Amino acid sequence: MKRAADDLGVLLCAAPIGAAASAAFDGARLREDFPILRRTVHGKPLVYLDNAATSQKPQCVIDCEARYYCELNANIHRGVHSLSQQATDAYEAARDTVRRFINAARREEIVFVRGTTEAINLVAASYGQRLKPGDEILITEMEHHSNIVPWQLLCERSGAVLRVAPIDEAGELMLDGFEHRLNARTRLVAVTHVSNALGTVNAVKRIIDLAHAKGIAVLIDGAQAAPHIKIDVQTLDCDFYAFSSHKLYGPTGVGVLYGKAALLEAMPPYQGGGDMIRQVTFAKTTFNDLPYKFEAGTPHIAGVVGLGAAIDYVSALGLDAIAAHEHELLAHATEQARAVCGLRLIGTASDKSSILSFVIDGVHPHDVGTILDDEGIAVRTGHHCAMPVMEHFHIPATVRASFALYNTRAEVDALFRAVRKAQRMFVDGRSA
Ligand code: ALA
Repeated sequence: MKRAADDLGVLLCAAPIGAAASAAFDGARLREDFPILRRTVHGKPLVYLDNAATSQKPQCVIDCEARYYCELNANIHRGVHSLSQQATDAYEAARDTVRRFINAARREEIVFVRGTTEAINLVAASYGQRLKPGDEILITEMEHHSNIVPWQLLCERSGAVLRVAPIDEAGELMLDGFEHRLNARTRLVAVTHVSNALGTVNAVKRIIDLAHAKGIAVLIDGAQAAPHIKIDVQTLDCDFYAFSSHKLYGPTGVGVLYGKAALLEAMPPYQGGGDMIRQVTFAKTTFNDLPYKFEAGTPHIAGVVGLGAAIDYVSALGLDAIAAHEHELLAHATEQARAVCGLRLIGTASDKSSILSFVIDGVHPHDVGTILDDEGIAVRTGHHCAMPVMEHFHIPATVRASFALYNTRAEVDALFRAVRKAQRMFVDGRSA
């Protein structure tokens, strides 16, 4: 049903949101919400198993962004005209949606950024200004490069020291080793909630409690968790939580930094520019209230509004139902993988999210990926921006299949048919 533009306002994306809106979870039917899943690759139906890199977008998110540009586009926080006010309402409504999604206490604690990487860089640049030579930052061996490099850069600037808690052969964090490295010099702990290379789900509540017992702030990289695990930042009591829209069925180029208000208040701005100021003179500039102090320049308004629609979509389905479906797929895939002779799983933690990483004797992961692509199957191969994890397991790369709400058991079966085909071609030297 078409609405007059004047009626849109904050209702921009409150339009019907596809099959998910009120139905019980039905993975096969939900596929209809994702137009890209109708396409073929090399003449085969697309089997998209690269969801940890980015997830596909439901029609309601695509429509929401398109409607924003067709009917509402204007700059926000800057105009008295109706379009600007309606665009502002839509953008700020998405902030409320994010607040509810992660159960933050206050909307001011939700800062829109470009993605998880920018969120972590923001904290490193701003919170990091309080670090002194000899202070320590503690991370883990399973971090993505975006939760390593910003801290290395900060250490170079500040004279602080980066310490790394080890993982074991299952790819689980060694909590003793972590605790052992927390000391009077530790100023910040930065840990991933879910490993993007291994699928390990970290015991973040325990990690946060251990750090807080010593008065240390904690940042959680939630890029791989937010699409799969219900986040409650108040229960976790984390100081910062970062995640991206594009892995959560939303647009690329948008992410969220949650920060406790008292910390954000005390932190200096990250970037200077429009909207983050209260008053500018050549003598002195004062800064805007939270969260605008950290949102310099025109943000990705349409993307933020689209993220709101994506969160509405997954919330209508329920993250618990999504997680149950994905766990079932992971269990099925793990069973199939264990049946392949010469296949070694990389990452066998007892608590895993929907990521299956593996290597095959005698076949380079990139060759596996190429054969899978010929079959229309998309996986990621490589180091997954987690080179230290590869080093830990003495491998250059893995094949990584990662599952989302729209994947099916039949797709897992197709994956392992193609894996066996790759093995026949590269190990046995047969053509199929
Ligand atoms: N961080 C994303 C991944 O793990 C891109 O693939």
